[in-house]
Amino acid sequence: MDEVAFLLRPRSDGWVIDGTVGMGGHAEAVLDASGPGVSVLGLDVDPEALARARARLARFGDRVRLVRASFRDVERVAGAEGIVEARAVLLDLGVSSYQIDESGRGFSFQRDEPLDMRLDPAAPRTAADLLNTLPETELARVIFEYGDERHARRIARAIVHRRALRTTADLVAAVRSAIPSAARQRGRSGAVHMATRTFQAVRMAVNDEPGALGEALPRAARLLGGGDRMGVIAFHSGEDRIVKQTFRRLAGAEFAAVEPSPLTPGDDEVRANPRARSAKLRVLERLP
Ligand SMILES: C[S@@+](CC[C@H](N)C(=O)[O-])C[C@H]1O[C@@H](n2cnc3c(N)ncnc32)[C@H](O)[C@@H]1O
Repeated sequence: MDEVAFLLRPRSDGWVIDGTVGMGGHAEAVLDASGPGVSVLGLDVDPEALARARARLARFGDRVRLVRASFRDVERVAGAEGIVEARAVLLDLGVSSYQIDESGRGFSFQRDEPLDMRLDPAAPRTAADLLNTLPETELARVIFEYGDERHARRIARAIVHRRALRTTADLVAAVRSAIPSAARQRGRSGAVHMATRTFQAVRMAVNDEPGALGEALPRAARLLGGGDRMGVIAFHSGEDRIVKQTFRRLAGAEFAAVEPSPLTPGDDEVRANPRARSAKLRVLERLP
């Protein structure tokens, strides 16, 4: 949080675009740290998250505008709001604690809930739809590519055998049946639950998160003025790879990465917020 507020501090008055406003924590930090001439345009696909952000940010009055939209459409949304240049753009990828713990939409393997996993409740395809219809080879590809899961093929086979899956417990059972017992033991003693990677991969596929990110980054970069910055927080290697490669492609005469390697949270932050442990922040600047 501190690094984001510092690295993305607006160099002058104008609009900061938070493409993943979530519960409004980062937006609040930016607004608190800046003067009345700095405003925030916040986007999110989840109407419940937006309602929470709206309540949290109410005290800032007309310094805040919130729009239900995907960050994939950031240029169009900014244009419709009359914003031609952003002093900073933030994307804090993935899901929020509220979505994992309270939404009831099946983001956590620690609860038995319907296999939904849509961040946007109006999106056409749920996790159950995807798990019950994708061909086995395609399922294996998704779990391998988005989850970095080396048992992807076995897990895909187990899912197909157990169709139709309805709840998160069904998916956990499929993963458990597919992972060799030695790996299950390692998962139990280590920090990562054996179903973590599969759940992450399915969530990313349901919401086309890599597709949205790949399209959003160049569009968001075009909104920056000279000397303005975009920060992206990614929580796993697949996402971070997209950010790294896109920033590298953009770097040159017009843009430059602010730090050569990503920033990661310190020990104190991880102790206070264990979910931050795998976060990586990359920052791109449009050259003056
Ligand atoms: C990690 S949370 C953000 C938390 C936020 N920074 C805060 O301080 O409360 C990620 C948010 O991004 C939203 N999200 C995910 N994909 C999105 C997309 N393509 N467009 C807009 N919002 C998206 C999720 O609904 C979620 O609320």
